[in-house]
Amino acid sequence: MMLWRPGKLLSITWVLLAGLLLLFPGALGAEGAVHRAAVGSSVLLPGLGEAAHSNSMHWEFLTGSGPQTILQHNGGAQAPSIHPPFAGRATFHPSNGSLLLEDVQESDSGTYRVTVNTGGRKSLEIQLEVLQPVSRPQLRASPLLAGASGQVVCEVAEGRVDTITWRKDGQPLGPGRVSRVSGGRSVLYLRPATRTDCGSYSCNASNGISWKETSLKVTVEGLSRHLKHTLRIATVAVVFAVVSAWGLIIPVCQSEKLRIRGELWRWLSSYTCGLVCIACILDGTAGILWMQEEGPSVAVLLLEITLTYLIVVTFLVATTVIFQPTDFSHLKSKKAQRTMGYAAPGAVVTVVLSSTFLIKNIYHRHAEGCTDFMDVVILVVSTAAVSALPLLAIGLCYHTTQGRDVSWMDKASSLEMSQPGNKDTIPS
Ligand SMILES: *[C@@H]1O[C@H](CO)[C@@H](O)[C@H](O)[C@H]1NC(C)=O
Ligand SMILES: *[C@@H]1O[C@H](CO)[C@@H](O)[C@H](O)[C@H]1NC(C)=O
Repeated sequence: MMLWRPGKLLSITWVLLAGLLLLFPGALGAEGAVHRAAVGSSVLLPGLGEAAHSNSMHWEFLTGSGPQTILQHNGGAQAPSIHPPFAGRATFHPSNGSLLLEDVQESDSGTYRVTVNTGGRKSLEIQLEVLQPVSRPQLRASPLLAGASGQVVCEVAEGRVDTITWRKDGQPLGPGRVSRVSGGRSVLYLRPATRTDCGSYSCNASNGISWKETSLKVTVEGLSRHLKHTLRIATVAVVFAVVSAWGLIIPVCQSEKLRIRGELWRWLSSYTCGLVCIACILDGTAGILWMQEEGPSVAVLLLEITLTYLIVVTFLVATTVIFQPTDFSHLKSKKAQRTMGYAAPGAVVTVVLSSTFLIKNIYHRHAEGCTDFMDVVILVVSTAAVSALPLLAIGLCYHTTQGRDVSWMDKASSLEMSQPGNKDTIPS
């Protein structure tokens, strides 16, 4: 049973092959040779050799509507006339019976038959396929985000395409990974895109007469647009917090005698607290954006609550110092002082720690792709410069007025707020 099976299969195959050969004579051997030519080129259709010599000969073009005579040669040396549509662009060689077609067009594709009368009739059929050369494929990738699906598309605008093959970094891509959508379009699906999909892809489109190849460097992004915004916001929050930290530290480092006071001190405190307040708002926004992308987390929610409290306190301090300095001097209770004294530094530390944590997580996410990390240098430098400018201005005013305008300082000192270390200057 097992022994005769392969034999039977083989014989069936032979029968099928023989049938095919009967149906399509010329599928094998010189008789059915397919000639392929590019549009506009010349094609030599071979005759039947010496058999042609001094015998009558007939060239035909077999179209759907029946055979169409190209020429009828009755032996002898004089050249026969060539019928349209080949008149003027075909040359007949009486010596060997071959026919040269010039400037072939796609409409010339089809079967050509030459028949010779040498006592018995003898004929030969030739398939001609006239093709447009393929144009250069266009290779493009959809925006590729790590973890999301994407695709790379190879598209050929002109010319019949027989095969499209892909390579990645020089290695052939298995046909299972790409799908041929239509003749001139092949798609590589990345479901999902990962870091390993980064590389140089090339797409080779070919037909019988030509091939063209295009390459594309494909990169996968680790960060969505959303996370990039989150990163920018968190970065600005850190910069603001660091700049306002200077506004808090500098007065503490000054010696008792030269300490900044009065109007300037009010501006400095208000600006510093305002900046801390904005840093808290930005940090809170970055946290919310992060949760939108990653889902809620207890740590971030607790952070949001803390930040809300800090935003309210720093906002109150900043506005009160500037708009109602007298109210402020009434807030003399130890508890209020402590709240004020610790709110701003506490907010700075909170913002710096939580933003750094966020940035670190975003960086990890970025490493799932293969692009360069977002360049935040310009953002950092410009926000630092802009936010430090008022501090510099206050510092400059301090240096020009210091020690010169004592009466002005005396007047202004009536508005001064209590601060650890200079309680003695507060009017009662
Ligand atoms: C037939 O003759 C022509 C000119 O004599 C030559 O160019 C051509 O190559 C020949 N054809 C074949 C099939 O030998
Ligand atoms: C492109 O494909 C054609 C046909 O398969 C092949 O002959 C050619 O060498 C290929 N080109 C490259 C660069 O692999």
